[in-house]
Amino acid sequence: MTADAAAGPGGEPGFTPDFTFSIDGVTVPAKKGDTILKAGLRAGKFIPHYCWHPGLSIAGNCRICLVHATKTMPPGKPVIACATEVVEGMEVESDGPRTKELREGVMEFLLINHPLDCPVCDQAGECDLQQYSFDHGRETSRFEEEKTQRPRKDLGPLIRFVGNRCIVCTRCVRFCEEVAGTGELSVVNRGDASWIDTFPGVELDNPMSGCVADICPVGALLDKDSMHSTRVWLLRGTKSVCAGCATGCNVNVETFDEKVKRITPRENQAVNRWWMCDAGRLTWREATAPARVGAARIAGQEVPFARALERALELVRDASGGVVGLTTGFASNEELFTFQGLVGRGAIAAAFAPDGATFTSRDGFAIAADKNPNREGARRILGEGALGAAGQDAAIAALEEGKVGLAIVHDAAPGGAPWSPRLLAALGKAKARIVLALHETPANADALRGAAVVLPAAHATEKDGTFVNAMGRVQRVRPAVPPPAGARSDLDVLEELARAAALQPRVLSAAGVFRRLAQALPAQFGGLDYNALGELGRPAPGAGEALLGRGRPLPIVDGVRSGYEAGPVSRAPGRADDEQVRPSVHHESLVGYGTRRGDL
Ligand code: SF4
Ligand code: SF4
Ligand code: FES
Repeated sequence: MTADAAAGPGGEPGFTPDFTFSIDGVTVPAKKGDTILKAGLRAGKFIPHYCWHPGLSIAGNCRICLVHATKTMPPGKPVIACATEVVEGMEVESDGPRTKELREGVMEFLLINHPLDCPVCDQAGECDLQQYSFDHGRETSRFEEEKTQRPRKDLGPLIRFVGNRCIVCTRCVRFCEEVAGTGELSVVNRGDASWIDTFPGVELDNPMSGCVADICPVGALLDKDSMHSTRVWLLRGTKSVCAGCATGCNVNVETFDEKVKRITPRENQAVNRWWMCDAGRLTWREATAPARVGAARIAGQEVPFARALERALELVRDASGGVVGLTTGFASNEELFTFQGLVGRGAIAAAFAPDGATFTSRDGFAIAADKNPNREGARRILGEGALGAAGQDAAIAALEEGKVGLAIVHDAAPGGAPWSPRLLAALGKAKARIVLALHETPANADALRGAAVVLPAAHATEKDGTFVNAMGRVQRVRPAVPPPAGARSDLDVLEELARAAALQPRVLSAAGVFRRLAQALPAQFGGLDYNALGELGRPAPGAGEALLGRGRPLPIVDGVRSGYEAGPVSRAPGRADDEQVRPSVHHESLVGYGTRRGDL
């Protein structure tokens, strides 16, 4: 195996084997200090595990990873693969009859008090307990006594605990202690009466609380936002990035029937490790918020999208005088580049959402204060002059001259872009105005009012393109669901407008626009294309810590895929209509553009 093949998600360098050992007769390279489980996973040799997680300390309490190995003490006794260091020449038996018997024993023990309620459990289909039961369990139970009963309760605004399913692996306890650093959870009671709980008077309410549902290997911790919503095997996942802040966490957007059901983190060691924040997890609700512009309008009257687009094309063809463009840090690079071409020599102003809450976990995962997913892309494409107050002043000056024939406003910001009141007042001086807007709120109502054409803009879960995160990493955002009925993507609309203005001969795919962008701006995007970006993105030229001073690189960890990704099963949970996630301070970013607090 090459060092590259061994590098973790995110392309971290650095696996140079020190020696080899063998698992079930297969030679496996290892580094000094590796455990049997870690070296095995890295080499594609899966050993079952519940309590071990690559981002947490080793607890060694579930015992499902028991194997037989030579060179261990005391000789001949089984050892747990997650906590036993490999030595050169060690021979491990992870798949033989003796190991099978060990696992059957552990599985029988773990299932003694388990309710066996897979048919009504949200984790079914992605549950390690269910999977290992198929692989290593007995067909029948020999347990005839009363099963213990444990509580079912809310631990915090986002998390429901179903105690009878808990196998007390302590992943969640260690996550709160070692990653979030908030330590709300603990194991209470002893023996078969033990379960996990919050400390008295404390709620599980930290900015990353949803991650405990991701890492719970069984259906004991459920994300209330998606609980009881869809059976997981019906979900279709799209690899994308979160647009909640400039960190750009890698995520899976999971959909059913063209509706987003949940957003879960996707491992990228260079960006978000295995984690994401609660606010990012709920960003899909921006797409269904009551403030969403759902229909196209001409002069304030709702019309079919195609008619409104035709009218917008006419306005572009007939435009006389200058053009002014307003955009935001929520537009993709492809949209910004096409928009810049469309506005040409006219003034462009980009508005950015104000800074918000920030948080840094103990392992370096950071929620950025910058809530714009593509501020860095806007800086690279539009230049500093278009950003902030300087850009808005230039646009105001052009509009107040009274020679602007067409203003084009691309407002994909959830909650509406925070244009200055002077700019909004000046917009009225353009002869005509085309507005693409995601939400209609008091913040941007003046931009929409009086517009000749309003078109619905796409949410991040509907976009095909790229964002540049705070550390200068270019990452793909992919469409998981289509835009609102009849609408076309923002990039398509902007390209059609550019074609109407005779600025380009045809409409390209997002990949085609990015290729043109990389050719036009080699110092900013040179050497990159969608193939090079892959699933984990790539740093743009000149990217680094010093670039923005906002992001900081994560310390490199040896990237071994977490068990639930390497193994046959993945992760967790589901929402009942009668159960609601209560608002917390961490979800406040979703309140304010029409989402009712009770919805959260
Ligand atoms: S709730 Fe889940 S993660 Fe926490 S100890 Fe129980 S099984 Fe483990
Ligand atoms: S940290 Fe930022 S990018 Fe990551 S999940 Fe949260 S809001 Fe989204
Ligand atoms: S004891 Fe090894 S994974 Fe739990």
